[in-house]
Amino acid sequence: MKVDVLLGLQWGDEGKGKVVDVLTPKYDVITRFQGGPNAGHTLEFDNLKFILHNIPSGIFHPGKINIISNGVVLDPIIFKREIDNLRNKGFHLRDKLFISKKAHLILPTHRILDAASEASKGDTKIGSTLKGIGPAYMDKTGRNGLRVGDIMLNFDAKYAQLKEKHEKLIKMYDFEYDLAEYEAGLKEGIETLKQFTLIDSEHKLNDYLLQGKTILAEGAQGTLLDIDFGSYPFVTSSNTICAGACTGMGIAPGKIGEVYGIFKAYCTRVGSGPFPTELFDEDGERMRDQGHEFGSTTGRPRRCGWLDLVALKYSVMLNGVTQLIMTKSDVLSSFKTVKVATAYKIGDTTIDKFPFELPQNLQPVYKEFPGWDINLTAIKREEEFPDQLSNYISYLESELNVPITIVSVGPDREQTIVRK
Ligand code: GDP
Ligand code: IMO
Ligand code: MG
Repeated sequence: MKVDVLLGLQWGDEGKGKVVDVLTPKYDVITRFQGGPNAGHTLEFDNLKFILHNIPSGIFHPGKINIISNGVVLDPIIFKREIDNLRNKGFHLRDKLFISKKAHLILPTHRILDAASEASKGDTKIGSTLKGIGPAYMDKTGRNGLRVGDIMLNFDAKYAQLKEKHEKLIKMYDFEYDLAEYEAGLKEGIETLKQFTLIDSEHKLNDYLLQGKTILAEGAQGTLLDIDFGSYPFVTSSNTICAGACTGMGIAPGKIGEVYGIFKAYCTRVGSGPFPTELFDEDGERMRDQGHEFGSTTGRPRRCGWLDLVALKYSVMLNGVTQLIMTKSDVLSSFKTVKVATAYKIGDTTIDKFPFELPQNLQPVYKEFPGWDINLTAIKREEEFPDQLSNYISYLESELNVPITIVSVGPDREQTIVRK
C-alpha cells in the first residue's frame, strides 16, 4: 500500500479541509504532516461548520484513525481549545486521534517571539498568523525545541530553560508582553495532551501500510508558501510540498501514491508578499464577497485575483501531482469573462516559468474565457456543467497535463462532483 497526499497548489485556503473530509471514507488513516495552527481547514456538513487548526480533517467519519505526525508543530493551548469545542458538540477524539512524540511544541514564548519579530519588521512584515510557527520551527532546526514526547518527563524544567532563552531574545526586540495568561493555558493544554495516546508515528504509519491500510496525508498551507520554493521570504516555515510529506511522516518517497493537488478556480492570498494576478478592482471585491474570502484562522480579508497558470504549473511540477481538484468554481458564476494568466511580462521579456523573484513591474499576460452565468451550487453531475465551465476545465487539463478529477461547487460535503 502507498500513502496518498492531498496538498494546496496556491497560497493556502484552497479547500483542503473540505476535500479531505469528502475523501476520508476511502481511507483508514488521515494524517497531518506539517504546519500547525496557522492552518484553518473548514468543513461543512449536515448544517454544521467546523474550522480545524491542529487536528486532521478525517475526524468526522466514524472508525477512522487520525494522526498528528512528526512534521507538525503543535500548540497545546489551541489543541485543548479545539478538543473542548469538539467534545461540546459531541465529537470525542481520544480513541481516534494519536499524536507523534516527535511533533514539536509551540510554546507561549514562540507566539510572543513571532509577534515581536513581525512588529520589528514594520512594512516588510510577513503577515504571519502570529501563531508562533516561525520561532517553533527555528527552535526545531536550531536544535533547541521541545517535542510532544518531552511532556512525559521533567517538562517544567525543560520549559523553564527554553523560556529563559526566549526571554533574552524578546528583550532584544524591546517588546512588551504578558506571559501569565498564556502560561496558565499551557499547563491545561499539556494536561489535555497527556490524555491522548502519544505514538512513534513513523513506525505506526509504516506498519499500517504493511497491514494493507490506506492512508491519506493532509497538507497545510500551499506550495507557494513552501519554505524552499514559495515566494520567499513571504512564506511559512515548513516544506508544504509533497517531499515534506515524506519527512513529515517518516514515509519513503517510493511509498507515496496519488498526489492530489488542490486549487481554487481563481487565486487568493492572505498576508504579505507578491501576488502577480491580484485584483484591486470590482472583480476582486466580487470574488471576496461571493467566495467569503476571509481568513479561517485570523479573519483577515483575503487578497483575490485570477488563476495563475505560471504558478500552477510550477506547483504541479514540484509536487508530482497525479490528480487535480478544482474548488470554488461556483464563485466565478457571476463573471461575464474569466481570465487566466499564461505568462509574465517583466519589462520587454516574457517568461512562462515561475522566477526567483516576482518583481513589482511584473505584468501577467491573460487569456480570456467566457464565464458560466449559472448557479452551480445545486449541480450533482458533471453532465450538468455549463459548456463554458467544461471548456475552462479542458483548457486547464491540457495546459497542466493532469486530469481534474474533482470539481467543488460549494462549501458543503455534498457539493462535490467526482468526474469520470
Ligand atoms: P483550507 O485551508 O484549504 O482547508 O481552506 P479554508 O477552509 O481556509 O478556506 C476555504 C473556504 O472555502 C472555506 O470557507 C470553505 O468552506 C469554502 N469552500 C471550499 N470549497 C468550496 C467551494 O467549492 N465553493 C465555495 N463557495 N466555497 C468553498
Ligand atoms: P491553510 O492550511 C493561508 C500565511 C500567512 C503568512 C505566511 C506566514 O489554512 O491553507 P505563518 O503564520 O505560517 O508564519 O505565516 O503564511 N499562511 C497561510 N495562508 N492559509 C494557511 O493555511 C496559512 N498558513 C500560513 O498568512 O502570509
Ligand atoms: Mg485555511
